[in-house]
Amino acid sequence: MTAGSTVRIERERVEELTAGELAVLNERTRASAQMYERARRTLSGGVASSYQLRDPWPIYLVSGEGPTVTDVDGNRYWDFHNGFGSMVQGHAHPAIVTALRERAPLGTHFAAVTEDTVAVAEELARRFGLERWRFVNSGSEATMDAIRIARGLTGRETIVKIFGSYHGHHDAVMVSIGVPYESIGDRDDLASLPYGAGIPRAVSDLTIAVPFNDAAAMERRIERLLHEDRAPACVIMEAAMMNLGVVLPEPGYLEQVREITSRHGIVLIFDEVKTGLAVAAGGATERFGVRPDMVTLAKTLGGGLPAGAIGASAEVMSVVEDGSVYQVGTYNGNPLTMAAARASLEQVLTPDAYVRLEALNQRLLGGCEEVIDRHQLPGYAVGIGSKGCVTFSPARIVDYESFKANQDVPLTDLAWLWNMNRGIYMTPGREEEWTLSVMHGEEAVDAYVQAFAEMAAALRA
Ligand SMILES: Cc1ncc(COP(=O)(O)O)c(C=O)c1O
Repeated sequence: MTAGSTVRIERERVEELTAGELAVLNERTRASAQMYERARRTLSGGVASSYQLRDPWPIYLVSGEGPTVTDVDGNRYWDFHNGFGSMVQGHAHPAIVTALRERAPLGTHFAAVTEDTVAVAEELARRFGLERWRFVNSGSEATMDAIRIARGLTGRETIVKIFGSYHGHHDAVMVSIGVPYESIGDRDDLASLPYGAGIPRAVSDLTIAVPFNDAAAMERRIERLLHEDRAPACVIMEAAMMNLGVVLPEPGYLEQVREITSRHGIVLIFDEVKTGLAVAAGGATERFGVRPDMVTLAKTLGGGLPAGAIGASAEVMSVVEDGSVYQVGTYNGNPLTMAAARASLEQVLTPDAYVRLEALNQRLLGGCEEVIDRHQLPGYAVGIGSKGCVTFSPARIVDYESFKANQDVPLTDLAWLWNMNRGIYMTPGREEEWTLSVMHGEEAVDAYVQAFAEMAAALRA
């Protein structure tokens, strides 16, 4: 985080630059516009997931080559989006391509276990220090099943999450994220707000949100729940928040959460869908040295194939093993997915790879910090492992409240357009961060810093 003084960025200048960049991007993506006209006739909004929507049209891609992607207009970009942080391996990594090529002719689906599934479970157990594993096909499935296991184990229904955290698209966790600042509620009594229509109030009321980085507030809320005879089954959280840019845990916070949850018999779930295999070989669990009762993985696990996993202590997983909780799914442990995951773990995301990713990320973060200092921008660069972002904010973000109160939304939107027009494919969305891959090198991160430096200079011109 930079400590120097900052200047006020003129709003008119931001608006003027944004209008100019939007016009340029529209011009450069005419084929995407045409694809959108075709797509939206049959594909709702022209996309497969609402997170792929973009106004005036989405950018449609053709291919990925290592650290780059190419769109339907033939524009080639350095890929910092990386499939919402799924492609730490880079696109079409030879080890993954070979694994898929060798596996496909042997059959792609049986709904029975192949040896790769056993090998992946063994490796994850070693990395995360958790004894038992099950597989699913996405992050949402992983958090959905993890919560059910925690409920089955404890016989309790209430769950606790962090306000502003995203854990997937099932009802229990589509609560208290992305809401207007005024509706958050009192810090000690944060509201349980359904995220969009279609979520039964009866379900969202079972989900209680607490602020990140505030163990005392978590403890107070848990004690109130105990008083109301609503003891929570679990606390589900990211050890480092990855849905408000990047928000790191304050020193001691995770240890306190571990102590509070243990004391009250609450299952602690680290949702490592974003952090796991992206910030260290053993995810945030290894990185911060705090052992949860369960972890959920997805994204980077499958090397681009739809994969998810749940890891837990033998005690927690006993309710699955004795048949009292059903953890099921036709495609769980799909042979093609598991072959890709095994190749990734054994050949690509090795301990050495994380040393390289960390060094590259430090170069990128350092470069961005230098630009911020030089131009006295209100913001800072923050990251961990392969992930990071520039947060445009006059104050440090520690939780949802400080994010909503301080994030400079127009500047964040301008930065995305600016990057796209300079060959930097960034994650869309104001809450997102970059993800580097093992196939990125100095040329890619220096291109990012260069684009950022040009934007900073333009803002001050
Ligand atoms: C922390 C976290 N958990 C769960 C999910 C859901 O994963 P999926 O989109 O694979 O269902 C996401 C997706 O972004 C996530 O960031």
